[in-house]
Amino acid sequence: MEYSSLKRFLLLATGAFLLLLFTHFSFHLPSNPPFSRSSPFLFHGPPVNTAKPASQNHETYIASHPLDPFTIQEINLARSILLSYSPFSSSPSSLTIHSLSLDEPDKSVVRSWKPGNTLPARKAVAVTRYKNKPYVLSIDLSTKEVVQLPVPDSGYPTMTMEDMMSAPWAPFSDKAFNATITARGVRMSDVACLPISLGWFGQTEEGRRLIKIQCYSAEGTANFYMRPIEGLTVLLDMDTKEVVEITDKGNGIPIPSSTNTDYRYAVTKNNRAAWLKPPNPISLEQPSGPSFTVSEGHQVKWAGWDFHIKADARAGIIISGLGIIDPETGTRREVMYKGSVSELFVPYMDPTNAWYFKTYMDAGEYGFGLQAMPLVPLNDCPRNAYYLDGVFVTADGKPYVRENMICLFEKYSGDIAWRHSECPITDMEIKEARPKVTLVARMSASVANYDYIVDWEFQTDGLIRMKVALSGILMVKGTSYTHTKDVPSGEDMYGTLLSENVIGVIHDHFITFRLDMDVDGPANSFARVKLTRQATASGESPRTSFLKATRHVAATEKEAQVKLALYKPEEFHVFSTEKMTRVGNPTGYKVVSAGTAASMLDPNDPPQLRGSFTNNQIWITPYNKSEEWAGGLFVYQSTGEDTLSVWADRNRPIENKDIVLWYTLGFHHVPCQEDFPIMPTVSSSFDLKPVNFFEKNPVLWLPPNQEKDLPVCTATATA
Ligand SMILES: *[C@@H]1O[C@H](CO)[C@@H](O)[C@H](O)[C@H]1NC(C)=O
Ligand SMILES: *[C@@H]1O[C@H](CO)[C@@H](O)[C@H](O)[C@H]1NC(C)=O
Repeated sequence: MEYSSLKRFLLLATGAFLLLLFTHFSFHLPSNPPFSRSSPFLFHGPPVNTAKPASQNHETYIASHPLDPFTIQEINLARSILLSYSPFSSSPSSLTIHSLSLDEPDKSVVRSWKPGNTLPARKAVAVTRYKNKPYVLSIDLSTKEVVQLPVPDSGYPTMTMEDMMSAPWAPFSDKAFNATITARGVRMSDVACLPISLGWFGQTEEGRRLIKIQCYSAEGTANFYMRPIEGLTVLLDMDTKEVVEITDKGNGIPIPSSTNTDYRYAVTKNNRAAWLKPPNPISLEQPSGPSFTVSEGHQVKWAGWDFHIKADARAGIIISGLGIIDPETGTRREVMYKGSVSELFVPYMDPTNAWYFKTYMDAGEYGFGLQAMPLVPLNDCPRNAYYLDGVFVTADGKPYVRENMICLFEKYSGDIAWRHSECPITDMEIKEARPKVTLVARMSASVANYDYIVDWEFQTDGLIRMKVALSGILMVKGTSYTHTKDVPSGEDMYGTLLSENVIGVIHDHFITFRLDMDVDGPANSFARVKLTRQATASGESPRTSFLKATRHVAATEKEAQVKLALYKPEEFHVFSTEKMTRVGNPTGYKVVSAGTAASMLDPNDPPQLRGSFTNNQIWITPYNKSEEWAGGLFVYQSTGEDTLSVWADRNRPIENKDIVLWYTLGFHHVPCQEDFPIMPTVSSSFDLKPVNFFEKNPVLWLPPNQEKDLPVCTATATA
């Protein structure tokens, strides 16, 4: 790719709101990919130094680790091999490249690789469609050999950015669409439309790639999401751009007003409440600089932890080869081979015509990494952050850079890692405390209205926290009601009246993580430690009951499928079958839930069949390189035949094997007025916590902060 076009692409791809926003700024259908359209929503952040070392110069970067993502040069080479591969070579313009990324070498090869060794063969895995037929291909860059891999029976590959950016424009060439918009009282120049994946409900969603387009009025606000043209749905063929059907069941439903919906600071600062004083600016300073290192572009080391990190178009952040130095012995110990988000499932709870199909699977349909926008320095990540880019491909296979997609930073939020004071009873005058400093790897995917902030947080006590925060803007429904007293009793609004003519529809979010655990190596088992009430024998004790822990090692997949229940408490341990502590406990990590939610849909409801990987919160499967995406490789319009639940139903043995832990973090969202016109951020998390992994608490090696370590910075010094 020429530098100038790369730069132009970059500039446009940096527009935080460019992605799915199609308003009056330009109307012609794109002849070139729509990246050439100018956007007024480019974010010009404060002048913060996000400069990267030479190892992040994408033009010259050369892979140095077996798991390093494909470089610009490698993508260009893979593309040229593909274009000359028969049958594609006869009509290269009929080829669409949905994804092209590193085909990771076999796990045994990666685990035995040492720095300084030559790299194993660099191979790409590409998902393409040629004349509408899907192909999954492995491309060897050195031999130039292309091998066709099996293609799933149902579904389509992840949409390309070009699909998502061109589909919303297609209805504009249909007279009936224009007439409907005009009849609803919206000027054509104010229409903003979104491409909405339509799931699968039967034969209507089979045989061709379809999408539903829904539109909004952007008149008087950047927050067009609050101004739905309710009830209007355009069914579109994504390949031919043919309008299959226009449905408008929204006559009589007004477009909600734009009043108080804009969220841009340039607008809101003029009508802020005069009686509130905002807190003073705050920032974390590290007088001695950051204490983590990033070498060769992707290798991170911090406080005994080390891992490989990269951006992925589908998963977002991928963490690999995670290990920690045991403070006891100084030796490095393995914890996890690979971890990432595998799929999301976001069903809305309104079964009516314009809403029933909203059951998004954001990773496999839209690309969780593709939607991860550049992070905003000083606000998304603190001043001491280090930024990493993603390198992805366009539909014609050319590389482009998504800048500042991931940030890494040390976090101190005033919390305590450990403390103890002696009270006067002992007269010992001990006051010991250690500040809690963690390392965070963060990205934020803006899947249209919603923003998913994903944090991987590493602690000095060996704990890893996976945190997901939901931010952004609700997807709302228009209504003729302006007050709850107007709603006839017994009528189900499927949500909450948030403002005049605006309903926030109830919905769920599920984020499924795939965690290939290698606790002290790949030979692991999974134990369920059940806590049950035990009755004392008559006369044994003044007590009548106590809690007892019973450990059961799961032999097969079905024994490891967990539905969480407060009154059936359990711990869930992934442990080494080869290593024990000094006193004989198997070394392990346990998965610890925080607040979460389970899918309550009928298991046979079509969306739940596709999202059946959410039927349990925890699953364990034997390691299988091709079982990576919980909703299947081809998720778009899939029927649910290639999901985690189907694989796990084979009930394979999982004892003393290389096993993969799957955890689903869930949220029920019943909207309330504070969700209007933008949402307060809601977050939850789960932990991987050492359980008999260390001989004793590893925080013992942490020093306390001293006054001399932390010079006081004044405002002028930091300006
Ligand atoms: C629909 O309206 C748009 C915007 O005014 C215009 O560019 C387009 O040509 C119209 N389509 C038709 C078929 O008239
Ligand atoms: C690996 O996974 C694929 C997809 O589920 C399956 O077809 C294959 O049989 C699995 N291999 C093993 C050894 O289980």
